[in-house]
Amino acid sequence: MHPGLKGFVEPKSPFFFEPPVSIGKADIRPGVQMGMHSYINDGRLESGVYIGRYCSIGNFVSIGTGHHDMSLMSTSSWFTSGVKPSVKKTKDGCLVRILNDVWIGDKAIIMNGVTVGNGAIIGAGAVVTKDVDHYSIVTGIPAKHLKYRFSPEIVARLMKTRWWELDDQLLKTHVLTDIESSLEFLESISHTARTVQPKTIKV
Ligand SMILES: CC(C)(COP(=O)(O)OP(=O)(O)OC[C@H]1O[C@@H](n2cnc3c(N)ncnc32)[C@H](O)[C@@H]1OP(=O)(O)O)[C@@H](O)C(=O)NCCC(=O)NCCS
Repeated sequence: MHPGLKGFVEPKSPFFFEPPVSIGKADIRPGVQMGMHSYINDGRLESGVYIGRYCSIGNFVSIGTGHHDMSLMSTSSWFTSGVKPSVKKTKDGCLVRILNDVWIGDKAIIMNGVTVGNGAIIGAGAVVTKDVDHYSIVTGIPAKHLKYRFSPEIVARLMKTRWWELDDQLLKTHVLTDIESSLEFLESISHTARTVQPKTIKV
């Protein structure tokens, strides 16, 4: 296992990541991408899933799902039709795109074609069938917007900082106490903090 990658099972190759990341006991299919400081405890990430930075993904979570052609005589994989079923994708061609600082609760399922915005929260047990707005909390089946984490003004300020692109060591010097002091810190460093360019590793 690469030193920047923690986990109990090897991801299927190719796996693209920015160290450090942790994949616990999850089944990572070929072609998944994961940004730094993101983790999943247990579950499955389908081929073509993109996970941004600082994402916290719980247990028994499925991101992206398999698909069977519903238009043929049978959906059983016993019959190989030779025709690949068309699968929903995001606008930028990922199976599912999870942006940065997203928290995904236990047993959530995120369906193909969905984009989850920065700072969003997916409640435990949710089935997400539609795109999720930045900093929105969604719950239920199908997942619906419950509330935003912050006021529109605070969300706009957070989005402007794009803090997930800044130097992670500098960010770590700040102790999280309340959102206003964090915003003041981010706004004070945003002109000088080095933007961390992705150093993606392929295993
Ligand atoms: C979504 C979540 C973050 C919301 O937390 P919260 O803001 O404290 O929410 P509340 O407990 O105040 O509940 C607000 C409402 O949403 C409902 N709700 C909360 N979580 C829900 C969920 N996962 N599914 C469905 N409804 C949920 C509550 O019943 C309540 O409904 P009501 O207003 O009709 O009474 C939280 O409930 C959750 O699911 N966290 C994930 C926990 C987890 O899986 N952890 C393991 C990974 S680290």
